[in-house]
Amino acid sequence: MFKWANLFGKNDATKEITSPDGRTICYFVLKNGQIFYRATRDNKVIIGLSKLGFKICGENPLGSNLKLIRTWSTRHDEAIELPWGEDHIIQNLYRETAFYLSENKPSNRIFTLRIRVFNDAIAFRYEIPPQPKFQRITVADELTEFNINPNAICYKIPAFEPDRYEYNYEKTTIYNISGSVHTPLTIKIPAGYYLSIHEAALYDYGSMTLTLNDQKILKSNITPLSDGTKAHLNLPFQTPWRLIMVADSATSLTTNRAMLCLNDPPHQDFSWVETLKFIGIWWAMYVGEWTWAPGERHGATTTHAKEYIDAAVRLGIRGLLIEGWNEGWEGDWLENGINNSFTDATPDFDLEEVARYAKNHDIELVGHHETVGFVDNYEKQLETAYNYYAVNNIHYIKTGYAGSMMMINGRREYHHSQLGVNHYQKTVELAAKKHICLDIHEPIKGTGIERTWPNLLSREGARGQEYEGGAISPSHACFLPYTRLLSGGMDYTNGIFDITNSVKRISTTISRQIAYFITIYSGMAMAADRPYIYEERFPEIFEFIRNVPTNFEKTLPIAGEIGEYYIVARKDRNSEDWYIGGVTDETSRRILINLDFLDSGVYSAEIYSDSENAHYRDNPFGYNIQKKHVGRSDALDIYMAPGGGFAIRLARLK
Ligand code: NOJ
Ligand code: CA
Repeated sequence: MFKWANLFGKNDATKEITSPDGRTICYFVLKNGQIFYRATRDNKVIIGLSKLGFKICGENPLGSNLKLIRTWSTRHDEAIELPWGEDHIIQNLYRETAFYLSENKPSNRIFTLRIRVFNDAIAFRYEIPPQPKFQRITVADELTEFNINPNAICYKIPAFEPDRYEYNYEKTTIYNISGSVHTPLTIKIPAGYYLSIHEAALYDYGSMTLTLNDQKILKSNITPLSDGTKAHLNLPFQTPWRLIMVADSATSLTTNRAMLCLNDPPHQDFSWVETLKFIGIWWAMYVGEWTWAPGERHGATTTHAKEYIDAAVRLGIRGLLIEGWNEGWEGDWLENGINNSFTDATPDFDLEEVARYAKNHDIELVGHHETVGFVDNYEKQLETAYNYYAVNNIHYIKTGYAGSMMMINGRREYHHSQLGVNHYQKTVELAAKKHICLDIHEPIKGTGIERTWPNLLSREGARGQEYEGGAISPSHACFLPYTRLLSGGMDYTNGIFDITNSVKRISTTISRQIAYFITIYSGMAMAADRPYIYEERFPEIFEFIRNVPTNFEKTLPIAGEIGEYYIVARKDRNSEDWYIGGVTDETSRRILINLDFLDSGVYSAEIYSDSENAHYRDNPFGYNIQKKHVGRSDALDIYMAPGGGFAIRLARLK
């Protein structure tokens, strides 16, 4: 055990902000001119004394030598209606205090620290107004600390590694963290609560990673720019919210909506945005049947595209992604991507013709821009490339930034640096202008900006099924709901039915592949396998994918533990139907699901689950489909095999 340096002097000047339910308190502390915060829940310390402030290039640090000028406190309670997502209505309920601070002479710089305390979260941000001789600043370091008991267990992925966020989660203790880790960083503290440190509304600033300082205190480590600084800011500037989600159980953490509440409502009309389910000219490339590059086995030909459109119609899926349609994939595409074209199709692909065919069949095409991180090359073409899709009636684009670094202004920059953040934002805003929705792969992590920009329907931003074939264990998708998915939906590329494929062997049972449509929310949800696999081999299981919605009225976590299992129920936004999904790690589990959350009435249940002898390794195709009538007084007894899962559709009978 590590001794926790949770020092707090009784005489330190303190102001407290209490959550509306009275359980969580954040204390603002001013001690010898330096600002700090600390927090408790049910009178137990959850965050010890933690320093706040900045180091600024060429200036004195900001955060010490301060006096409190005045405070302003408010209470806010508002129901927010979301256009799409896991919940239709979320409650934005908090108490807030703004602390107006000024330095003592001679410098006299001023800024505000704004703290909000929700029933299930603490958030704060720095707001720096312009002032004489202080109008444009360069941040050398943000000093924000999160002083959490170092003996706490955390679930981490490393930061500043070549595959960005695409890593397996590791369970460890805080004091064992080395290097930097990404947020959301989910933590189980010895006092019994679950916390997740993250940020909200990340604009024009480097994203926050976390690192341990010498006292084993977690400290923000803002992603640097190639010039070694953290961010160049024009004042006024407000930092992203530093967010600490707080929960009594692992499952209740998974529906924490504070991040969305901390973002602005949309500033323009987005009534045109619609969530989408799609198939794609995609997995055929991963299993080696087709190629991205032109040649004998080229995937994105006009003929294949039309065949896939016909298949989408038969399968009842609205969207079709086409990757590898443009110039730039020849040879080693990861190396050569610097000259990719986003307007020139390969000779065997006629975009206008395919777009016409799609429109005639009422299929939405999902365009594709693989930038390989060459942002300079992409930004040169951005306007024309988005126009090209828009005039061809294409309203969805999947973008990609494969590669360990971005190339911006001729320099290698991190994807999650200030310049990376600004690039992603530019694409979201331009797409909004053209009425295009985005699914960003190799993205900047989610910080809830889809509340303001609902055309940002999904992201990847974690290890997805493309890593199957050896690099994903059954526990991975049992970590995601408690970690990565706290930052928003994910395009995990669900629904691979060809599990025993010799090139890409999948480490799940088949029932679990449909469970993902419930356990991993995505505003753009991909049924990723080839259509002939769905039609010829498992049409009866595909039925679930055809029916499952991409927009939900509400979400109700049922049971789970981090990295072990997760069971969640969601009600459809457009009907009275409910869906339940569950996934487990390598351990088989039997779960009794009480249906008392249903409304009254009779539901026709379709239950897709693992058979008793199913196993992700030896018998991945062992499944049962059971149909019966149930109501709110019933309970369902469900078995999940090792590496397995289940999916249930509960269709309300009239
Ligand atoms: C990585 C993306 O995650 C994947 O979906 C895409 O097919 C490849 N890059 C190629 O763009
Ligand atoms: Ca990826």
